[in-house]
Parts: sequence; C-alpha cells; structure tokens
Amino acid sequence: SQAPVKVTVTGAAGQIGYALLFRIASGQMLGPDTPVALSMLEIPQGLKAAEGTAMELQDCAFPLLDSIQITDDATQAFDGTSVALLVGARPRGPGMERGDLLSANGGIFKPQGQALNAGAADDVRVLVVGNPANTNALIASSFAPDIPTTRFSAMTRLDHFRAVGQVAEKLGVPVSDVHKITIWGNHSATQYPDLFHAEVGGRSVADQVEQEWLEGTFIPTVAKRGAAIIDARGASSAASAANAAIMHVNTWVHGTPEGDWTSAAVPSDGSYGVPEGIFSSFPVTASGGEWSIVQGLEIDDFSRGRIDASVKELTEERDAVKALGLL
Ligand code: NAI
Repeated sequence: SQAPVKVTVTGAAGQIGYALLFRIASGQMLGPDTPVALSMLEIPQGLKAAEGTAMELQDCAFPLLDSIQITDDATQAFDGTSVALLVGARPRGPGMERGDLLSANGGIFKPQGQALNAGAADDVRVLVVGNPANTNALIASSFAPDIPTTRFSAMTRLDHFRAVGQVAEKLGVPVSDVHKITIWGNHSATQYPDLFHAEVGGRSVADQVEQEWLEGTFIPTVAKRGAAIIDARGASSAASAANAAIMHVNTWVHGTPEGDWTSAAVPSDGSYGVPEGIFSSFPVTASGGEWSIVQGLEIDDFSRGRIDASVKELTEERDAVKALGLL
C-alpha cells in the first residue's frame, strides 16, 4: 500500500482545525487510498487542546491515520510535509488597523514560509486559510524562495460554494446543476462573485436572474455571509470553512471535472489585468496537481469595475506589507 503522506495543519486547536482534522484523517481530503501522517502545529497555549483532539482522533480508529504529531515548532511541523494547511492566524481585534493586522500576521506567515522552505517535501502544496488569506499566502510564499510560487494558493472555495448555494436556491435547482461560478479578487467583502459565466442548464445564470437580484441581493449576500453567520451562530464559519479547505485540496490533487471550473486565489500571471504576483481569486481548473487560470473569458464593464476594486484592495495590502519590510 501507499506510503503515508504528511499533512500539516496550523491552528489545529482552533474551531476550523476541529472540523478539519477528522475529515483529513478519514480520507475525505486525499482519497481512500492515501494514509495520512498528521502534524498539528499550535502556539504553546493551544497544545493541550490539540492533545485532546488527538485523543479523539485516536478514538476514531481511522484506518488511514498513520500517526499524529503535535508541536509548537514550525520546523518540525513542516519537515517532510506534502500538504500544509495554514489555518492559524491572528484575528482582527477591536480597533485594530489594517497595518497592525498585516504586521501581526507577517509575524506568523514569514517564519512559516521559512520553515516550509527549509523542510517541506518536494511535492508540497500549501493552502492558506487564515485571514487575510490572500496576503498571508503572498508573505509565506515570498519567504519560501525554493518552493515554486504556484505551490501556494489561498482559499476562496467557501465563497465559491456560498455563491453556488445562493444560485441553486434562487433558480430552484440542485447545487450539482450549477457550473462555472467564479469568485474574483480578495477573500474579503470586496470579492466579486461572477454569474455572467456561470451556467445552469447550459445557459448563463445572469440571463436567468434579474440584475437587481444579482447586484442588490446575490453579491452582498455572498460577500457578507461570514458576518451573517457570526451574527446568527455567535461564532465564525468553521465546518463550512473546513469543508471548503478539504475540497480545495481534493480538487488540487485530483483535478476539476471536464467542462467545469472552480475558484481559488493563485499567484497572478497577469491574466485579466491582475498585476503579476499578487494572490487573487480566479476561475481555475486543476490537473496533475497544478492550477491553471481559465483563459479568454469576456469581461464586461460591470465585472471589470468589480474585479478592479477588489484587486486594488489586494495591491494596497501588498504595498502595506512591503512597507513593513515583509516582502
Ligand atoms: P480560531 O481562533 O478558532 O483558531 C485559530 C487557532 O490558531 C488557535 O487555536 C490559535 O492558537 C492558533 N494559532 C495562532 N497563531 C498560530 C501560529 N503562529 N501557529 C500555529 N497556530 C496558531 O480560528 P478559526 O475559526 O479556526 O479560523 C482560523 C482562520 O481562518 C482565521 O484567520 C479566520 O479568519 C480564517 N477563515 C478563513 C476563511 C476563508 O474562507 N479563507 C473562512 C473562515 C475562516
């Protein structure tokens, strides 16, 4: 049988970590043929809770779970890792300015990038979930010069699934009928969920809904869903975020279905006028473990304005991180 694949989860004792680890260990991320050697990275205060989660993982007797490592040392956690899920991040506190937030996260993602560079396996894939995810991916990848930039991506799959769910509900169709949804830009309230290329029944979704619903309901519902969940649940999205992370890696490794695409924030190659190097969400396909940006889509003025606004926020984040000496 196959050798175990090392999977590292940072922020393993957090709420997304709790929803994520059991699904990884059960084989839902890498598939039923791949044993997993789990590594859980936490800060010292999180280690005890991580040990509790590890006890529960043991109590599941998952046949695919080869071993569990718990550590507060990034070098150990990333040594030999093939899949790194960077979930732990510094949340925005009350009154915290963007500069403070970026600087606090630079303090996490710079050393993690360096540790990945030093010890990750040659085939490593890195998914950044912790916010601000796009810019944290930029920081981590810039401190891992020996790992191709394209091995890093940031998660907008949750936004993608939120958009799928809203369209399915609006048109009264199963989610499996909704294709070619795109999230463009930043994983933030400026993101642009695009229905002009989305299809249901072989026809553009934009032609099947009113422009007023698209602009006044759909876009704000998707972009502000995170806040709505905090308001209702008293805690931020966790199981849905973990699900999106599972599916992001699963797609990255196993590919997208023929004739469809998904959304992920990948380093721009300049496609669609997005400045090269920033991590921006695009329509992407995956094959052979590599993302490709879907090319040649027509972008009308409405979409252009929305994409540009979100990309502007990303370039500002990049410039702020540069000013902090983090790039
Ligand atoms: P949480 O606060 O429950 O857990 C975060 C965990 O990370 C904590 O246990 C903390 O001790 C740990 N941590 C902090 N710094 C660390 C470090 N340097 N190394 C290792 N572990 C560290 O947060 P939750 O709900 O699990 O969310 C995690 C992140 O995911 C947040 O930044 C959140 O904003 C983000 N998120 C991103 C989404 C996306 O779509 N991209 C969706 C939902 C959440």
